[in-house]
Amino acid sequence: MWVKACLTVFGSFHLLSVGNAVHIKRHHAQLEGEDWIQSIPGILAADPSALPEHWFDQQVDHFSKNTTVFQQRYFLNTTYFKPGGPVFLYSPGEGAARPVGGGQLRNLAEATNGMIVGLEHRYYGKSLPTPQSTPEDLRFLTVDQGLADFANFIRKFTHEGVSPKTKWALVGGSYAGAQASWGRQKYPELIHAALASSGPVQAKADFYEYDLALTEALPCAKHLHEVTKHIDGILDERDEEQIANLKTTFGLQNITDNADFAFAYTDILSGLVQYYRPAKVDPIDTFCQPFDTAKTVQDKLNIWAQYIKDQIEGPDSLHFYDYEGMNKNLSHDDTKSWYWQTCIELGYFQTAPREPLPRIRSKYCDLRQQVNACEKIFGKKMTPEITKFNRQHHGWHVRTPKIFYTDGQIDPWRKLSVNSPNAPKRHDKPSSPLVVITKGSHCTDLGTNATTDTQSLKDARQREVEAFKKWML
Ligand SMILES: *[C@@H]1O[C@H](CO)[C@@H](O)[C@H](O)[C@H]1NC(C)=O
Ligand SMILES: *[C@@H]1O[C@H](CO)[C@@H](O)[C@H](O)[C@H]1NC(C)=O
Ligand SMILES: *[C@@H]1O[C@H](CO)[C@@H](O)[C@H](O)[C@H]1NC(C)=O
Ligand SMILES: *[C@@H]1O[C@H](CO)[C@@H](O)[C@H](O)[C@H]1NC(C)=O
Ligand SMILES: *[C@@H]1O[C@H](CO)[C@@H](O)[C@H](O)[C@H]1NC(C)=O
Repeated sequence: MWVKACLTVFGSFHLLSVGNAVHIKRHHAQLEGEDWIQSIPGILAADPSALPEHWFDQQVDHFSKNTTVFQQRYFLNTTYFKPGGPVFLYSPGEGAARPVGGGQLRNLAEATNGMIVGLEHRYYGKSLPTPQSTPEDLRFLTVDQGLADFANFIRKFTHEGVSPKTKWALVGGSYAGAQASWGRQKYPELIHAALASSGPVQAKADFYEYDLALTEALPCAKHLHEVTKHIDGILDERDEEQIANLKTTFGLQNITDNADFAFAYTDILSGLVQYYRPAKVDPIDTFCQPFDTAKTVQDKLNIWAQYIKDQIEGPDSLHFYDYEGMNKNLSHDDTKSWYWQTCIELGYFQTAPREPLPRIRSKYCDLRQQVNACEKIFGKKMTPEITKFNRQHHGWHVRTPKIFYTDGQIDPWRKLSVNSPNAPKRHDKPSSPLVVITKGSHCTDLGTNATTDTQSLKDARQREVEAFKKWML
């Protein structure tokens, strides 16, 4: 989950990850399924159970003559809608849809008399084009099929007060933020504007910059570098008993493969940065402070290990790293769907930077570890077609106007966004706003107003509302 998307559902209040409030704790930094919507406080509707599910007959394959359809789920919120108003089409991306209507979506809808539609992504939640999760079943799970779902939905959606003249905006966070940008670019005649929150629009296989972002965000990074080198040494020695003890210290004894273990112990930590939210008791400081008084590398390792153990809760906690288990179980599984997307098209593989760059991840976290994971899950060798994908979708070279790009300053995913320091230089313009929220992280802007909001976050939300008022009215 560590790479979750940013959901917004109607309703209840969920704090972010990092070991609190949510019944699921987050353990990894993949943009990935499950209830990741819950990482956006306040995005859910007040009473999710009161909102009916709706179903749309969606084309299984948009790129053939075969007209077979599946049932695609969506939710509606018409609280602020007035006939003639715009529609905000919210994608929950790589996780189940929930009734939406809270957080920034609410602010956007309120300001424009807009309707909110939350359309579940194919192969997540209950929107299943095929019954199982074999590679054969998953062949219709591509970014382009998902974007064509938006287009087909917009063309066919009927509701009182919605006409062919209605303006539609795509809204999403994380992978869905990238989708919003790719979708507006591909279907500008149907999608009038887009809000791309924390969208990694540039696909990349060897995504070591994620790890550099952790180093930038964590004041105790140098201690973590030291611990990781120590762990590399233990793994190099191949003493089975010592390695077993090491894994047990982190609560990760169930992960048999050493490289997979190496991935997990940093991936679980990364939620601390990815889902950072300013709070009275700052979670990053809370994690980092004890390192200052730790004397030995073993003491430092123990602090890190204890944090990981605290994140692991219940037998499903490590599902994300159970590649063989996913291979054996052919039922639909959101996590597996997300792996499919990364394994065939998007990459986003969080690897260790190569020396002399600083690294929090073990050197065993290389591309091979990630590509092997794909093979373990799907039973065949796979390489994401990154070059082709970026050529088709233009990565961070996108130039379509009326796409609002918002990122969090410390969010590791910013490294693949239009707001990345590595992206081609461009200027913030009214037709193409670029906003980076100071001390913000993943999809912070999509959440609900809170007393802990920084001025920078308030300004970002305000600018979004102003831009969409201009574009959608
Ligand atoms: C159309 O696609 C469905 C689902 O994949 C399949 O069951 C069916 O056989 C296909 N029909 C044709 C005519 O290819
Ligand atoms: C729609 O969203 C509004 C604003 O968040 C919320 O108060 C309302 O309960 C939602 N409507 C439904 C039917 O859930
Ligand atoms: C580890 O494996 C044991 C035995 O299969 C199982 O009971 C336990 O729930 C697993 N723990 C985690 C955190 O997955
Ligand atoms: C298979 O996966 C489904 C969906 O994730 C889950 O509900 C079920 O418990 C799994 N079965 C086994 C045997 O792990
Ligand atoms: C959130 O704050 C903005 C201004 O900062 C305000 O316009 C908006 O109405 C607030 N939303 C809610 C739900 O209170």
